[in-house]
Amino acid sequence: MENTNPTAFHFGMIGLGTMGRNLLFNLADHGFAVAGYDKNPEQVARLEKEKANKQVRGFNSLEEFLSQLTVPRVIMLLVPAGPIVDAVVSDLTPHLLEGDIIIDGGNSKFTDTDRRVKTLASKGYHFIGMGVSGGEEGARKGPSMMPGGEATAYQHVQPMFEAIAAKVNGEPCVTYIGPGASGHFVKMVHNGIEYALMQLISETYSLLKAGLGFNNTELASLFALWNRGRLESYLMEITSKIFTVKNRESGHPLIDDISDEAKAKGTGKWTSQFAMELQVPVPSIDVAVSMRDLSKYGSLRQDLAREATMPEIWPGERQALVSELEQAFYFNMVLIYAQGLHLLSVASQEYGYHLNLAAIARIWRGGCIIRSSFLESIYKAYQDQPELEHLIQQPSIRRLLQECLSSVRQVVSRAMASGHAVPIYATTLNYYVTLSSSRLPTNLIQAQRDFFGAHTYELVGKEGVFHTQWPSVS
Ligand code: 6PG
Repeated sequence: MENTNPTAFHFGMIGLGTMGRNLLFNLADHGFAVAGYDKNPEQVARLEKEKANKQVRGFNSLEEFLSQLTVPRVIMLLVPAGPIVDAVVSDLTPHLLEGDIIIDGGNSKFTDTDRRVKTLASKGYHFIGMGVSGGEEGARKGPSMMPGGEATAYQHVQPMFEAIAAKVNGEPCVTYIGPGASGHFVKMVHNGIEYALMQLISETYSLLKAGLGFNNTELASLFALWNRGRLESYLMEITSKIFTVKNRESGHPLIDDISDEAKAKGTGKWTSQFAMELQVPVPSIDVAVSMRDLSKYGSLRQDLAREATMPEIWPGERQALVSELEQAFYFNMVLIYAQGLHLLSVASQEYGYHLNLAAIARIWRGGCIIRSSFLESIYKAYQDQPELEHLIQQPSIRRLLQECLSSVRQVVSRAMASGHAVPIYATTLNYYVTLSSSRLPTNLIQAQRDFFGAHTYELVGKEGVFHTQWPSVS
């Protein structure tokens, strides 16, 4: 279609939900003239109503919206991931001009993005799959963004995204991630880490409450205190605030009235699934996904709970136990990020993404849900040693883990002995111990495979594959 009115707007947004609207207002605050389109006229009206005197305009017609964008058109989609993205892309395609740039800012599955990048490239259009983190507030005040696709297409939009991104030490929390679907792959792993950190915090909450007898006020204070130390993170901060909120209707602390069935939109599960495809163990993320799934079996749990014994309060001096728990938390947190980064490093090689892990840690330091002060250490570690196979090989990080080890063992063993479930604490500890073992019992698995299926085995210190005629079984 001819661009009959190449005028004012630098950027167009399709999908004017809160995220879409907020991102447009953020761009407008930084001097960009922006346009929005939504199939739902109420969303367009809301944009118009809330825009005040900003350079923002809402459109009810897709054609009119497109005709008002400067060329090449930059059109971002913030619509629910899945078939809706394909539907919007197919509505757009007849109107596109060569060189137009479509940006999908949703949590799309990276395999879908891969397909879309290829299909649109074959028609002369650019497709950027961009992970956007930080929720509604991040979109308005500064998100962290993970764009992947063609580098030249990204260069065109770079000034806009650098302007609106969160800043840490003056550096924007956005960088070109790599080719193809790399941006959405990195966002998926970000979310896998998010799931594991949330599971870690929720287990810690349970231990503090049921194991150490903390009430909500004490929980709010402890999480706030931890947030001033090396455990500082966005998730820690919001957790401390959650315990201060009351349910106006019941008068109870709101947290106590919230159902324990955890929902999920799928990004954590995808992280586990694709990690398994690549044979990269991320057990702390796997267990976080499983625990959300387990939480759904409410009536089964109620039934089984009738005959279960209640977890006991831990004996011992509270201050000392809290300090041990802080160490165990730190240990887990480090290893959760480390598993995510390990997955990124293997995926980078397998998929040819050429990921810069230091740059990814840098843009995760602000704006996103997993931002934390520890990301500064990760950033430095990969800056010093970009080829690091695994984060825990970095000497100072390894030393810190070693220092926490006896506390983690104490926490896990005491928790389990007194009836508390600590799936992520136990899993992460086992991951670390196993990863640090020069010899695993998996030699026995090899022997068993050869026994029942003649799958062969290899020998230590001798080339070749071997099979044994094992004793017969009665
Ligand atoms: C972010 C978040 C966000 C995600 C929600 C909900 O980075 O801003 O990861 O993208 O959609 O956290 O995810 P679940 O519904 O799967 O928990």
